[in-house]
Amino acid sequence: MTQILPVERFANVRTPFYYYNTNILRQTLAAINEETAKYGNYFVHYAVKANANLKVLKVINEAGLGIDCVSGGEIQQVLKAGFPANKIVFAGVGKSDWEIELGLDEGIFCFNVESIPELEVINEIAGQKGKKADVCFRINPNVGAHTHANITTGLAENKFGIAMEDMEKLINLAKTLDNINFRGLHFHIGSQILEMDDFVALSNRINELQDKLESAGINIEIINVGGGLGIDYADPVANPIPNFKDYFATYNKHLKLRPGQTVHFELGRAVVGQCGALITKVNYVKSNTLQKFDNDEEAGVKKFVIVDAGMTDLIRPALYDAHHKTYNISSDEPEETYDVVGPICESSDVFDKGIQLNKTKRGDLIAMLSAGAYGEIMASQYNCRTLPIGYTSDEL
Ligand code: LLP
Repeated sequence: MTQILPVERFANVRTPFYYYNTNILRQTLAAINEETAKYGNYFVHYAVKANANLKVLKVINEAGLGIDCVSGGEIQQVLKAGFPANKIVFAGVGKSDWEIELGLDEGIFCFNVESIPELEVINEIAGQKGKKADVCFRINPNVGAHTHANITTGLAENKFGIAMEDMEKLINLAKTLDNINFRGLHFHIGSQILEMDDFVALSNRINELQDKLESAGINIEIINVGGGLGIDYADPVANPIPNFKDYFATYNKHLKLRPGQTVHFELGRAVVGQCGALITKVNYVKSNTLQKFDNDEEAGVKKFVIVDAGMTDLIRPALYDAHHKTYNISSDEPEETYDVVGPICESSDVFDKGIQLNKTKRGDLIAMLSAGAYGEIMASQYNCRTLPIGYTSDEL
């Protein structure tokens, strides 16, 4: 497996750690820029919630992308990485006062507002500062996405956004508020979406809403369709770059724009997912004899690879039943079947079950691919563990 990861450079690095291949990241960013350039009015704001590693952020900033934040901490982090404040969109259902103040002080591009009480608070704080806040409304389009239930966001039952039916009333209210500048609409239907039809459904919903608002004399400048484009977790080696061509072309075909409108995207996973791997060391390989029950033909021996990374380092398998393609990058021996598990005192601390790995022994390095998004950033210190460090290929 040395051809996909430079295992020789990992010898003296403390495990577990994240490894970011900046060549893949740069190729991904180039692909995004190449596709959006075709349309002229398309702007991608990288969703920093996927990965806020400063070194990764600097590469993304060099490519000229804007940024999507969901907290004051994220705003501080992206400013530190050098992103200009006027490319920040700021979303979130529960913005605190200090976060709204920060956004106003820094002069961000736009607040994505999710409720009337939030709109009123932003109006009040902006008034105290003698400023006008640019806002888009986050609309819950009630479009289901074909993805895991925990990462579907665009259904009426989810906590996000404002119902389509309430939009007109809300925009008219916004126009009466002195310190609010209404700019447009924001949507997001979910994450890890691979079926372009889901984005077609969203476009159709947006078209309906635009027609309605237009007949009510409401002018929209910004349409933010959120993020959600998925990546190939099953075969990241063959498909390191997501299908940006079809993604942007789908919106271009189905979303009906009025003159002067700009379309904004908040891609997270598709930008950083495939450039990252979690590298972990094998602490033990153990075999458990399975108890044989009367009708059980399958009883035998089960082999566990116990690695030094746990759900604290990569929580996606435990939280979303996610599967990250896993390789033993130290072994070329014939494959055997293993369960790969971590050291945390939780039975959900399992990375994968019954997978094929080259014969594995203590001390081998295991790589879990497609871990650049929602990996390092979701790490925790449960069990008093040390947070994993993220290194780029430029430094290792
Ligand atoms: N915009 C909004 C409003 C969002 O809520 C999200 C993600 C994004 C953009 C970026 O979505 P992306 O392009 O990355 O799909 N931790 C989960 C994913 C949670 C996504 C939350 N919202 C996971 O590991 O799969």
